[in-house]
Amino acid sequence: MLFLTLAGLFAVALCDEKDGGKAPRIPLDDGNSMPAMGLGTFLGFDENGQKEAKSMEVENAVSWALDAGYRMIDTASAYNNEVQVGRGVQNSTVPREHVFLVTKLGANEKRDVLGALRKSLGRLNMSYVDLYLIHNPVSFTPDHTQYEVIDYLDTWKQMEQTKKLGLAKSIGISNFNISQMDRLLANCEIKPSVLQVEVNLNLAQNDILQYCKRHNIAVMAYTPFGNLFSTDKAPPPPRASDPTLKSMATKYKKSVAQIVLRYLVQTGVAPIPKSVNKPRIEQNIDIFDFSLTPEEVQILSGFNKNYRTVWPSFWQDHPYYPFEHKAVPDPDLFHPKTE
Ligand SMILES: NC(=O)c1ccc[n+]([C@@H]2O[C@H](COP(=O)([O-])OP(=O)(O)OC[C@H]3O[C@@H](n4cnc5c(N)ncnc54)[C@H](OP(=O)(O)O)[C@@H]3O)[C@@H](O)[C@H]2O)c1
Ligand SMILES: *[C@@H]1O[C@H](CO)[C@@H](O)[C@H](O)[C@H]1NC(C)=O
Ligand SMILES: *[C@@H]1O[C@H](CO)[C@@H](O)[C@H](O)[C@H]1NC(C)=O
Ligand SMILES: *[C@@H]1O[C@H](CO)[C@@H](O)[C@H](O)[C@H]1NC(C)=O
Repeated sequence: MLFLTLAGLFAVALCDEKDGGKAPRIPLDDGNSMPAMGLGTFLGFDENGQKEAKSMEVENAVSWALDAGYRMIDTASAYNNEVQVGRGVQNSTVPREHVFLVTKLGANEKRDVLGALRKSLGRLNMSYVDLYLIHNPVSFTPDHTQYEVIDYLDTWKQMEQTKKLGLAKSIGISNFNISQMDRLLANCEIKPSVLQVEVNLNLAQNDILQYCKRHNIAVMAYTPFGNLFSTDKAPPPPRASDPTLKSMATKYKKSVAQIVLRYLVQTGVAPIPKSVNKPRIEQNIDIFDFSLTPEEVQILSGFNKNYRTVWPSFWQDHPYYPFEHKAVPDPDLFHPKTE
């Protein structure tokens, strides 16, 4: 607890007021710093597979978010929306230099990392990104039809090159497990500054968080709401109607979404909630004017079930698949050509 409090103060001390952002900044081990919360931009799936952004949908969300005080935007080559993200940044009231822009190397782009980043930069219409992540340790051929076994240590050497060239200010990883991080840390020249993984009420990731704290790797929390707003009965609770969550929301005059985001921030991770809805975008960043008590943090941590909402089962046969292997309940639910 003491550690969290000190880390919190340090982060606040680093907050640059002139930047106008609402979230404090988390120091990274390479000397840069990252906002403690950002906007997610992945639109999810429908019956046709990965959803395509409607005209201006993501562009507007990014502009609204920056105008509302976000300073971090998360995208990926695989989201097929970098053009809109770039326009959204350009069309906001916030200068590019004040934005922490995150994109990711696709699973099918690992033969030429530098070329992939240059393509992302072209779509974003930017000269650098603030953070470039390996989206996943698993690889596919460029046409995305077959597995390819490319050692992530080789990929990382090329990631280091992007940082040396200044095309990525910081570099990191996503969806790596602890043994993969161990192997990477033992064999790298530049350490990964950030790990992006799923963290929410149902998936606390206690081991990974401890590991990252020990190695000074900042953690960005994807799918921060887990199954909170799911209408599907299968995933475990809690839902937004949960009485414990609702009573905390009432106490602080906040929404259940805000309680959950605040909880994640207080546990030291940087959540990246996705929304394309202006009021919800504004609501989600409005969490830096209250604090949950240590007892409330304890209660919320009790929801953990080590339950994964994002489970790419269609990658299970790849040798670098990072998660637990399980029987696939309904293969039709999954979309092998996307991430
Ligand atoms: N590295 C990876 O492999 C990986 C994997 C998954 C996700 N990500 C990143 O993490 C981001 C967030 O994860 P996610 O999109 O899976 O899930 P999420 O952010 O936990 O949830 C998004 C859903 O919550 C809704 N929502 C947002 N704010 C709300 C609020 N205040 N009240 C009620 N509903 C609200 C959104 O709908 P509306 O848009 O309609 O508001 C959307 O349906 C992604 O967008 C992506 O950038 C990365
Ligand atoms: C910029 O945003 C405004 C609204 O703030 C919108 O009307 C306009 O179409 C956008 N322009 C571009 C080039 O994206
Ligand atoms: C790229 O950004 C520059 C300004 O930095 C702008 O003049 C140009 O129109 C943009 N290009 C595209 C294709 O949006
Ligand atoms: C981590 O990933 C490796 C593949 O690189 C896999 O063999 C191992 O089982 C994974 N560990 C866990 C705990 O899932």
